[in-house]
Amino acid sequence: MTDRTVLITGATAGIGEAAARAFAQAGWRVIGTGRRADRLEALAAEIGAQMHGLAFDMRDEAAIDEALASLPPEFQAVDLLINNAGLALGTAPAQRADLAQWRQMIDTNINGLIAMTHKLLPRLVERKGAIINLSSVAATYPYPGGNVYGGTKAFVQQFSLGLRSDLHGTGVRVTSIEPGMVETEFTLVRTGSQAASDTLYGGADPMTGEDIAQTLLWVATLPPHLNINRLELMPVSQSFAGFQVARE
Ligand SMILES: NC(=O)c1ccc[n+]([C@@H]2O[C@H](COP(=O)([O-])OP(=O)(O)OC[C@H]3O[C@@H](n4cnc5c(N)ncnc54)[C@H](OP(=O)(O)O)[C@@H]3O)[C@@H](O)[C@H]2O)c1
Repeated sequence: MTDRTVLITGATAGIGEAAARAFAQAGWRVIGTGRRADRLEALAAEIGAQMHGLAFDMRDEAAIDEALASLPPEFQAVDLLINNAGLALGTAPAQRADLAQWRQMIDTNINGLIAMTHKLLPRLVERKGAIINLSSVAATYPYPGGNVYGGTKAFVQQFSLGLRSDLHGTGVRVTSIEPGMVETEFTLVRTGSQAASDTLYGGADPMTGEDIAQTLLWVATLPPHLNINRLELMPVSQSFAGFQVARE
């Protein structure tokens, strides 16, 4: 058992859920968040007293404040914030996209993430802690239908680097993790279709939530003088598609 505490947003599914298990297994106290309280309860029941669940919507700043204020004393000293909660919605080209979906991605992936970061920074500075942000390969490589999702992840990547500059001299570490295809509920959420999700991942041997969870744990447990700035990872089956040319 370490004496360290990690707060993982989006611990009700996919990467965040796998990370909650991996950090608990490594002896960390885990605060897991998400909107689905039933899933947090089930995970806390599985992990035990080492985990505390906080059910709230990342888009609701008052709910974030209320949730953080409700933390039991032994969970209040956060050493590591993993900003993982996020989503993509829709695959349509920008000219046919749904503006409400664009806003939901920005409110979750950017506004929720900066609010959580802002609220926890004083504790993280005090404890010489760390922040790991889930960006994506979509931050660097555009693809059709990626429009606002890619924009939010480019924000996360650049915000991570900017935080490093601001936190210079504090000892706080900041990392942007930029995965390619990971099989989670991501595609089900994006498309609303289990069949579309099965087709995308089928036969592709994608990365798993556990793969990314182990990467997060590795980054978090490196010697304190070492900072991974950005880390891009993909399944072997995924690579680059090149440029497209429209002809008359
Ligand atoms: N899967 C990939 O291929 C991939 C690749 C690169 C980056 N990523 C990034 O990795 C992160 C985790 O995604 P995942 O693949 O694990 O997807 P996932 O299985 O769909 O999990 C997403 C998590 O985010 C939470 N979340 C979404 N909206 C929220 C809101 N408004 N308030 C609170 N929590 C919210 C969900 O919890 P509730 O629904 O319970 O609220 C869930 O726990 C995301 O930031 C995603 O962009 C994923």
